[in-house]
Amino acid sequence: MSSKAPVVHTVGEMRAFVRARRGAGERIGLVPTMGALHAGHISLVEEARRHAERVIATIFVNPTQFAPGEDFSRYPRTLAADREKLATVAADLVFAPAVEEMYPAGFCTTVTLEGPARADLEDRFRPTHFAGVATVVAKLLNQAQADVAVFGEKDYQQLLVIRTMARDLDIPTDILAGPTLRDPDGLAMSSRNVYLSAEDRARAPVLHRALAGAARRIAGGETIGHVISEARKTIAGAGFEIDYVEARHAETLAPVSRREDGPIRILAAARLGATRLIDNLAVPGK
Ligand code: PAJ
Repeated sequence: MSSKAPVVHTVGEMRAFVRARRGAGERIGLVPTMGALHAGHISLVEEARRHAERVIATIFVNPTQFAPGEDFSRYPRTLAADREKLATVAADLVFAPAVEEMYPAGFCTTVTLEGPARADLEDRFRPTHFAGVATVVAKLLNQAQADVAVFGEKDYQQLLVIRTMARDLDIPTDILAGPTLRDPDGLAMSSRNVYLSAEDRARAPVLHRALAGAARRIAGGETIGHVISEARKTIAGAGFEIDYVEARHAETLAPVSRREDGPIRILAAARLGATRLIDNLAVPGK
């Protein structure tokens, strides 16, 4: 029998764990996830461990961040396998609440967002998504009262939304970022990659290759507008339906037209069949 990280299902049990560890002078790290864990998630647990003696991973497929017609009901749920993966990095606790634990009858509060949540990127295509994300993350941060919480750069706009929310609401947890882990061909790891057909999986790395090429060319001084439109052509040419491919200010997500406009991040979302892939990369060197 392989070992599994210990799991609790209620806020009260998680708080009792935190109280006991804190009482012993230990720091707590939190890694929120929706499960179906891959090496990218596990790397966030390892990052949390660098800042805290105890690491809690949360697994909750949050209904409020999915729009009707999105993949909430078919999102992969693999708690036993997730707990085995978390045991390999000695995660101290898994918090896996039921929907009723997070949203009991009468629940009626939502975090309202502006700033990076209104950048005309993910929010253009998923207008209710970040309110659901921010509300559940605010709850998880309040429930766990962790010293640090780690989020992936893979969901770059989400990371900025959560940082801003934690700052604005005085949530005393440090929000840390972990880099995007990729398959050897460059495709960013994602729980949703299991949806890709073999043919689409073979095309999928074009997204990262196009972003990497664009980042290099912008760093080399080529015009941003021209480089981005070439990247769009490459991505569409591989059979993707593009939602967006954009160069933005890395901290504010404001549009940029010149290299000098600040640190730049290139962000993209595109669909292969029914599967939507997102990715992003820093333009190096500034
Ligand atoms: P989920 O998609 O499960 O991702 C959990 C965390 O893993 C996020 O911080 C995400 O950015 C990070 N992550 C995903 N793929 C990664 C990769 N290839 N390399 C490194 N990190 C990666 O994002 C969510 O869940 C939810 O919106 C959540 C924040 C849990 C709120 O419900």
